[in-house]
Amino acid sequence: MAAHLVKESVYSVGCVDWNVRNFHGSTYITDRGVTYNSYLIVDDKITLIDTVHKGFAKELIENIKQITELSKIEVIVINHIEPDHSGAFPEIIKLCPNAKVYGTEKSRQGLLKYYGVCGDFTAVKFGQSLNRGKRTLEFIEVPMIHWPDSMFTYCAYDKILFSNDAFGQHYATNKIFDDEVDYCALIEEAKKYYANILWPFGRLISVKLEAVKKLNFDIELILPSHGLIWRSHITDILNKYLFWAANSVENKVAVVYETMWNSTEEMAKKIVEGITSEGVEAFLFDITKCSRTDLAAYMLDAKGFVFGSSTHDNDMLPVIAGFLHFFKGLKPKGRKAFAFGSYGWSGEAVKNIEAVIAEAGVEKTQESIKAVYAPSDEELKKCYEAGKAFALSIKG
Ligand code: FEO
Repeated sequence: MAAHLVKESVYSVGCVDWNVRNFHGSTYITDRGVTYNSYLIVDDKITLIDTVHKGFAKELIENIKQITELSKIEVIVINHIEPDHSGAFPEIIKLCPNAKVYGTEKSRQGLLKYYGVCGDFTAVKFGQSLNRGKRTLEFIEVPMIHWPDSMFTYCAYDKILFSNDAFGQHYATNKIFDDEVDYCALIEEAKKYYANILWPFGRLISVKLEAVKKLNFDIELILPSHGLIWRSHITDILNKYLFWAANSVENKVAVVYETMWNSTEEMAKKIVEGITSEGVEAFLFDITKCSRTDLAAYMLDAKGFVFGSSTHDNDMLPVIAGFLHFFKGLKPKGRKAFAFGSYGWSGEAVKNIEAVIAEAGVEKTQESIKAVYAPSDEELKKCYEAGKAFALSIKG
């Protein structure tokens, strides 16, 4: 991707990773690829905001060279040290001998631990600023959005918020603005991003967004470190973040299961029928056939979860076990759930799912359902009735 002008003397110089499909190890499936955004501000003094993944250092350097020589960069702002943004830092700092580096104290420590270098580093605090000529950059610490080192940078002159991971989306494209791509796809990716990366930090995000609001920043552009720049839909994405961060939910249910011989699947389908008979949306997810990244996005604003598994070797099946382990870490608040599953002789899967529901802090609203071997008509009727009862508790 070549350098693009974003606004008077502010350039996007980042890179597109079209082919990455597993991000953060296996925790995030990136069907649409990823971008690593980096920005260059050419004022009296030249500033680079963030770098990129180390595999794209050469491309970043080429993009910067389209605008200026690297030796002219006098400041590098590190908003976040995760390697998708700082991986190219050691190579860049070698080519910018005059650059001073600005970030939080946690950034300084992290750069040293990752790379053994942090450059001529100044640790900044919330509200501290740095003049660059016509522009002044303000630094806003936002710890745990989503790492302890995370920071936003605001430029009043351009009315730009450099938000790093916040408001990002994993969406590989050569376009740079939100109004240049399909908006439904963009919002889908923004939601997926929030669900899989930021969901556990909702309370902190609410507090920090309120603190930023009090600064009365005039924001015309939000420049995240992944995906498209927010230009035409700033109010929408801010409102969506406030909604998600407040753990707001809709009357809908994710029914998630893994099955050995279709008995648990039959039960799952009857539960869905029962839920929808009460006018509540329910979506069926066979965890072996769906992306758990997409599933987390569906669950983000769902009020209810129903989890099912056949019992195998005295426990739930391995794919749903892995998913529920991931689910616990999302720390969902204010949700309802119950469990179900078929078994042959011992039936521990349901009990173990109930334990995960409790550990996740989700309210178990009704008795779990079990069926030996294949569910009988009577047992399927119980599944249907359980679905209906669950829907009533969701509506209530
Ligand atoms: Fe995009 Fe937290 O790194």
